[in-house]
Amino acid sequence: MSNYENIILEIEGELATITLNRPEKKNCMSPALHSEMCIALKEVEAAKVKVMVLTGAGNAFIGGMDLEKCFFDNWDNPEDFVDGVKPSFEWMSHLKKFPAVTIAKVNGWCFGGGMEVVGLCDIAIVAEESIWGLSEVNFGIFPGGGTTWTVVNNMPSRKQALYYSLTADTFTGKEAVKLGWASKAVPLAELDSHTDKVVNGLMSKGRIVLQKTKEVYERIINLNMEFPEAVDYEIAKLYELSRLTNDDWIRTALKSFNKREFKPGLQDYKITRDDI
Ligand code: ACO
Repeated sequence: MSNYENIILEIEGELATITLNRPEKKNCMSPALHSEMCIALKEVEAAKVKVMVLTGAGNAFIGGMDLEKCFFDNWDNPEDFVDGVKPSFEWMSHLKKFPAVTIAKVNGWCFGGGMEVVGLCDIAIVAEESIWGLSEVNFGIFPGGGTTWTVVNNMPSRKQALYYSLTADTFTGKEAVKLGWASKAVPLAELDSHTDKVVNGLMSKGRIVLQKTKEVYERIINLNMEFPEAVDYEIAKLYELSRLTNDDWIRTALKSFNKREFKPGLQDYKITRDDI
């Protein structure tokens, strides 16, 4: 595994955890951190994990972009400026299309680019007490670098999206669920155990079915497919999944259901192979 200075990468079996590790700077994302994230995501993808959790050290999830190292220090040298922010677009684009399930575990402060990271993950489990904000207007810019894209794609209400983009008012993790940014909010003291529970649930499912579930959702929403096209596409992807898993859903799962060995509404089937 590569050596990292700004993040901690742990891979245990089919679970990867990346902890942004600049607690003294509220885990704000410097050019060096962005470059490490580019490498780390490639490393995690190559490991074919089922789930990747992103979280922050200390009392912050991500305090946004490093306003000094990314912007202030480099503005007068345009090439350094571009070189500093470019890796952020690389790893965030990778995160958006990541094959494993991505979970943002939001343990504290979450601003601007931090909200963008949450917005690109599949699932967000957040501390009720965490404080969030689109703070960009507070220092004279709009939410850029992809953040407005995540606002549009996570906050369904225009009135809420523009309210928080224009006022930079903060909100809590508990409110983030209502606003569309988070899947579940739990007290900070329960954040680890609750996230572990969700991770364990995902671990008992197949890697390929998780991957295809994401792919189908993303493609249908991004291409804004009409119902007949979506049906055709979903059928084709079902054949793809069946081929890749050697028809495990028929041969193992539904065979087991046919013998009344489990209730699919409430339980997983027991996967007998660890390569799918
Ligand atoms: N960029 C650079 N440095 C930062 C950032 C950041 N985004 N966030 C925090 N820091 C630094 C602080 O300047 C401080 O540095 P210092 O020790 O050298 O003085 C250190 O991290 C600790 O932060 P404090 O402000 O002392 O911590 P406090 O708990 O009082 O406040 C808070 C935390 C509210 C998160 C505050 O640090 C803050 O407002 N940070 C900026 C948040 C923000 O608006 N981010 C930009 C979002 S927009 C975008 O990403 C493009």
